[in-house]
Amino acid sequence: MTETPHTTQSSFRRAGVIGWPVDHSLSPRVHGFWLRQYGIDGEYVRIPVPPEDFARQLKNLRIDGFVGANVTVPHKEAALAGVDEVHPLAQRIGAVNTVVVREDGSLYGFNTDGFGFLENLKAGFADFSASAGPAVILGAGGAARAVIVALLDAGAPEIRLLNRTKERAEQLADQLSGIGSGVVLVGDWNKRADYLDGASLLANTTTLGMKGQMPLDIDLSALPQTALVNDIVYAPLETDLLARARARSNPTVDGLGMLLHQARPGFEAWFGRMPEVTEALRQHVLAGV
Ligand code: ATR
Repeated sequence: MTETPHTTQSSFRRAGVIGWPVDHSLSPRVHGFWLRQYGIDGEYVRIPVPPEDFARQLKNLRIDGFVGANVTVPHKEAALAGVDEVHPLAQRIGAVNTVVVREDGSLYGFNTDGFGFLENLKAGFADFSASAGPAVILGAGGAARAVIVALLDAGAPEIRLLNRTKERAEQLADQLSGIGSGVVLVGDWNKRADYLDGASLLANTTTLGMKGQMPLDIDLSALPQTALVNDIVYAPLETDLLARARARSNPTVDGLGMLLHQARPGFEAWFGRMPEVTEALRQHVLAGV
């Protein structure tokens, strides 16, 4: 990493996102917008790092002049193992997406994906409460894990977990049992519509509905009209799932907000100010999708 003249100024702070590949990451757009908005002397850069170099790059963050970094695919699990101290929530999720270089040079890792998920729902639907009733979660990947931990932590009584590969859902349910007082039940992907009865939340964490993928095929007839429907896919912003939910008057929240809200705690830790998610930020980030 080449030094810039900035690093000699005491107020200048540098953060970034470590991934492989990392070209498509929208995080520089998000943090760059906030740095300009708040007039903060800093930068947020892309840090492309292949898996074999990750551990070394993480240890070198401070030497390279970073106050911290986001960590994205495929390094989130390696980051959990590579930091000096892990926040208990990140431990439960099994992944670190935000790293802070502390004064003494040690690395502190936490995970803001669950925070981003819940904050997005609350921002988009004021009446949202995780404890209101059962949540149907589609998918059992890394995103589902963060979402389920967040919901259980927030008092969700029941998670109905449905995934094409059922064993993966069963594994996840086993790992997550015991968080909060809620239960995680695994159902059949092929009968997914049957699990919507009485649900207060339906969230898609699969890649179905994303640009270039097949739409998510699910019959919503059994879903109560009061249930909140969320898709973590944000390209397109209005997925087929959200359009169909809206057409039958369910409240809906799109996936862009999760990306924006999950970025807030890292920005606060590195740059000293808790940033806001505004319509101007949404439009700025959408222009880069
Ligand atoms: P992430 O970590 O971002 O959540 P992931 O681990 O790749 O991503 O998970 C993608 C999710 O989308 C998985 O739940 C996957 O189901 P499988 O576990 O069966 O692979 C789901 N998914 C992807 N394509 C799918 C499809 N065509 N039909 C059903 N589910 C699909």
